[in-house]
Amino acid sequence: MKVVLIPGDGIGKEISESVKKVSEVLKTNIEWETHSAGAEYYEKSGKLFDDDLMDAIQNTGIALKGPTATPIGTGFRSINVQLRQRFSTYANLRPVHSIIGVKSRYEDVDLVIVRENTEDLYKGIEYMYDANTAHGIKLITRSASERIARFAFEYARKHHRKKVTAVHKANIMKLCDGLFLESFKNVAKDYPEIESDSVIVDALCMKLVTDPAQFDLLVSENLYGDIISDLCAGLVGGLGFAPSANIGEDVVIYEAVHGSAPDIAGKDMANPTALLLSFCMLLKNHDMKDKAEVLEKAIYAVIEEGKYTTQDIGGNEGCKAFTEEVCRVIENEIN
Ligand code: NAI
Repeated sequence: MKVVLIPGDGIGKEISESVKKVSEVLKTNIEWETHSAGAEYYEKSGKLFDDDLMDAIQNTGIALKGPTATPIGTGFRSINVQLRQRFSTYANLRPVHSIIGVKSRYEDVDLVIVRENTEDLYKGIEYMYDANTAHGIKLITRSASERIARFAFEYARKHHRKKVTAVHKANIMKLCDGLFLESFKNVAKDYPEIESDSVIVDALCMKLVTDPAQFDLLVSENLYGDIISDLCAGLVGGLGFAPSANIGEDVVIYEAVHGSAPDIAGKDMANPTALLLSFCMLLKNHDMKDKAEVLEKAIYAVIEEGKYTTQDIGGNEGCKAFTEEVCRVIENEIN
C-alpha cells in the first residue's frame, strides 16, 4: 500500500524517521512515497511543496504529514489549510486520553474532538480595508455544519460514545454560530440514542480544565476546534501526545496536532508519540488494526516504564532512543 509521507519542517524529519522505523519492524505493507513541503523547502526552491505532491495524495488517498511551519505576517499561506481545502478533508478528528506514566492533572481524560476543517475564519477571506483596518470574514455554511455534525454522530455511534456536545458562541455570533448550532440540532434528531447538548466556547474552556470527564465528544467550528484541541492535549501531558486525522471522502491526511517545534529541532529531543499515534490511526483505518494495537501497546509500555522517555515528560532520552525501545518491544511481541 502506497502512503505519501511529508516529513515537513523542524522536528518533522526526526519524528517521520521514527514512524518509518516502527513501520518496518511491524512489517506493514506500506511503501512510503516521500514528498517535500514546508518553509525549509520554500527557502530552497521558492515553492511551498513539490510539483508532484498534490497528484501523489490524490492517487494514494492517504498521507502521513509532519508539521509544516507557517511564518507569521508574510504572504506564505498555510500548507495545512491548502491541503484541507484542496482535498476537502472536512473532518479533523482529534482523540485525547490520559496515558499511564505521563504526569498530568487528571488521570481519566478520554475525549474526542471533531473539528470542522474547511471554513470559518480559516477560509482566508481577509483584506486591508485601509492602512489601519484589517477585515476578516467568518464563513459558516449549513451544508458544512450539517456534514460535520453528522460525522460526529456517526463516529459516536460507531465508537460507542454516549454524548456529543456542540461548541459555539451563538450568544454573540448569532448568525454564524447560530447557523452552526441550528444545523447541529437538526442532525441530532437523527440520533435519538445519543445524548446531545451544547456549550459556549469560553465556558467550555473553564469546564475542561476543572472537570474534563463531563465531556465525551466535542464538535466545533474550525477556530474553536483548533484552540480547544491544544487545551485538551495539555490535559493529558502536552502536544507530544495528540494525534489527528484530516478526513475527506477520498483522502485522509494523518498528522500530529503539534507544530515544527523549532526550539528543539535537530537536537534529538522531539517526542515522536503524537505522530506514532497518528500512524496507529492510519493502520486502524486501513485494515491493519492488529498492527496498530501492537504499536499502541509498545508505545504505552515504554512510556509507563519511563526509562526511555523524552524530556518533555521529564525523561532523559531522545527521539531515537525512545523509538529504538518501542521497536524492541514490538519485536519481542511479534517474534
Ligand atoms: P509547536 O507545537 O511547534 O511548539 C510548541 C511547544 O511545544 C514548543 O515548546 C515545542 O518544543 C513543544 N513541542 C511541540 N511538539 C513537540 C514534540 N513532539 N515533542 C516535544 N516537544 C514538542 O508550536 P509553535 O511553536 O507555535 O509553532 C511552530 C511552527 O509550527 C509554526 O510555524 C506553526 O505555524 C507551525 N505549526 C504547524 C502545524 C502543522 O503543520 N500541523 C500545527 C501547529 C503549528
